[in-house]
Amino acid sequence: MDRRDQTTHFGFRDVSVGDKQTLVNDVFRSVASRYDLMNDLMSAGLHRLWKGIMINALNPPRTDTRFALLDVAGGTGDVAFRAAEAAGAGLRATVCDINSDMLAVGRARAAARHLDARVSFVEGNAEALAFPDRHFDGYTIAFGIRNVPRIDLALNEAFRVLKHGGRFLCLEFSTVDVPGLDRIYDLFSFRVIPPLGRVVSGDAESYRYLVESIRKFPRPGAFAEMIRAAGFSRVSWQSLSGGIVALHSGWRL
Ligand SMILES: C[S@@+](CC[C@H](N)C(=O)[O-])C[C@H]1O[C@@H](n2cnc3c(N)ncnc32)[C@H](O)[C@@H]1O
Repeated sequence: MDRRDQTTHFGFRDVSVGDKQTLVNDVFRSVASRYDLMNDLMSAGLHRLWKGIMINALNPPRTDTRFALLDVAGGTGDVAFRAAEAAGAGLRATVCDINSDMLAVGRARAAARHLDARVSFVEGNAEALAFPDRHFDGYTIAFGIRNVPRIDLALNEAFRVLKHGGRFLCLEFSTVDVPGLDRIYDLFSFRVIPPLGRVVSGDAESYRYLVESIRKFPRPGAFAEMIRAAGFSRVSWQSLSGGIVALHSGWRL
């Protein structure tokens, strides 16, 4: 089947794989300059806590031992900066993202934080990484994988570029199963976030896509199965904040 004939979801719409990536790229081009502010507003700052939990799980060396981290769909660099700040001098982080506008914001932030020697930014597609096999000690992806049209290809690539003993960590919005919280969360997602997006970044539609795409993402158990299918071992996941987010983990052993 031709790549463009395969169908997937763009929020609640069925679209071809090729069209999804184009639409996703438009979303992040549109929101890049206000992305970090919107992240804080939409999550009431909780994304900082969730990313902190992911970095704790990654547990990079606090010494000058070399540790190569690849942060895919890393956007404006948030996860890489947190890793660099938590780790010792040996950490080198590569932020890989398909969107040059998000990367441009990230480069400016890295320079402002004097982290540009330890954090580099590379344009690339999670489905076809331009890195050698067994190159990285850690692979992180935060709120990125649901935007990738072919998640199975991205997981295969994560496995390929990790060294033996390397760790895969994925933070992604998940399924709220707590009675009561689910209704509040739905109301907030569909009634508050798109209008907030309109006020902050002049773009309600992009934020409508973001909340719809969360509802289309596989449940944690199903996603864990996909991670196993890519070859990872000791796959596990933990639910955070009542299921708003899940942190999945796997090892290349
Ligand atoms: C919601 S942002 C997450 C940014 C960052 N990880 C964070 O947590 O703040 C999603 C990112 O995924 C990127 N993205 C979407 N499709 C991608 C792909 N196929 N390959 C790499 N990055 C992709 C977008 O450009 C965007 O920067």
